[in-house]
Amino acid sequence: MEISEIIKKYFEEKIWTEEPKNLYEPIDYAMQSGGKRLRPSLVLMAAKLFGGDVGKYVEAAAAMEVFHNFTLLHDDVMDNADVRRGRPTVHRKWDDNTAILSGDAMLIKAYQMIVGNVDDKRLRSVLDLFSKTALEVCEGQQYDGDFEKMKDVSLDEYFKMIRLKTGVLLAASLKMGALLAGASEEEQRDIYDFGMNVGIAFQIWDDYLDCYGDEKTFGKKIGGDILCGKKTFLLVQAMINGKASQQQTIRQLINNNNILPEEKISAIINIYTQLDMPLMCEKAMDEYFEKAMASLSRIKKSEEEKAPFVEFAKKLMGRKN
Ligand code: IPE
Ligand code: IPE
Ligand code: MG
Ligand code: MG
Ligand code: MG
Repeated sequence: MEISEIIKKYFEEKIWTEEPKNLYEPIDYAMQSGGKRLRPSLVLMAAKLFGGDVGKYVEAAAAMEVFHNFTLLHDDVMDNADVRRGRPTVHRKWDDNTAILSGDAMLIKAYQMIVGNVDDKRLRSVLDLFSKTALEVCEGQQYDGDFEKMKDVSLDEYFKMIRLKTGVLLAASLKMGALLAGASEEEQRDIYDFGMNVGIAFQIWDDYLDCYGDEKTFGKKIGGDILCGKKTFLLVQAMINGKASQQQTIRQLINNNNILPEEKISAIINIYTQLDMPLMCEKAMDEYFEKAMASLSRIKKSEEEKAPFVEFAKKLMGRKN
């Protein structure tokens, strides 16, 4: 069975029906709403590349998806987001407290799924990796929130933030697969770097889609980042490339609470378009795609064995959802 099929089947069969209902139903709602399920695929792809028994690690791989969905429940509260995967977010369908507590429960479930399914021999290193990564995601999310309130954020600060909030989880998913399969430290590092570079490209494109995506396909509301004053790749880059007048207009628009949200969004996107931001996003994404390919080339496996990783990264570049 293909790796994506294995993951799909796992989540089709996995249902969360424990009690109290108001704790577990939101978890089931989130886990059943699909998504790309990239992270568990990465775990199994890496396990396979380094000669591991894929079937043995499905539950540990799935833990990464449960963890990812936990971050989304909290992220949607923090970002005041109404829609995810084309459906109301958990905190909108229920309330903030529900999203917080169901999210907490998902984090604990993710730990249990790892502890219950990883051999003693590897458990310590897998848990260390997982805990370190989970903390880094929190750090990234905190920077993301802090930056909303900051007037200026540099490109370096932006990259540091997205490495943490997004890059580390893709990277660690691959490293976990490598660890489980008993790969060498060098191999673990190279596959981690590959994931990190893909993750950075992935987040740049996520920022792009937040302005230029199709709401239906993307499954999230367009302009959410603008309304929060997020320091996205587009905003940071526009503040570097824009003329003083454009920079000033952007600043005024972001801080203006007397215009309709739609107007704010379209006025800022207009400036982004004048500044060729879609092209800039594409270029930055391509740059990190190339870095990912360079990391991959350091791994001493046949081109055929590495082909799924190239394909995976290519599919994400210029994605529409
Ligand atoms: C969303 O991740 C959060 C980001 C890191 C941008 P995904 O785009 O992987 O979300 P789903 O799971 O496919 O919905
Ligand atoms: C993703 O950041 C990071 C995490 C969820 C940890 P975003 O806030 O950009 O993700 P989306 O766009 O809401 O999916
Ligand atoms: Mg966010
Ligand atoms: Mg968000
Ligand atoms: Mg986003």
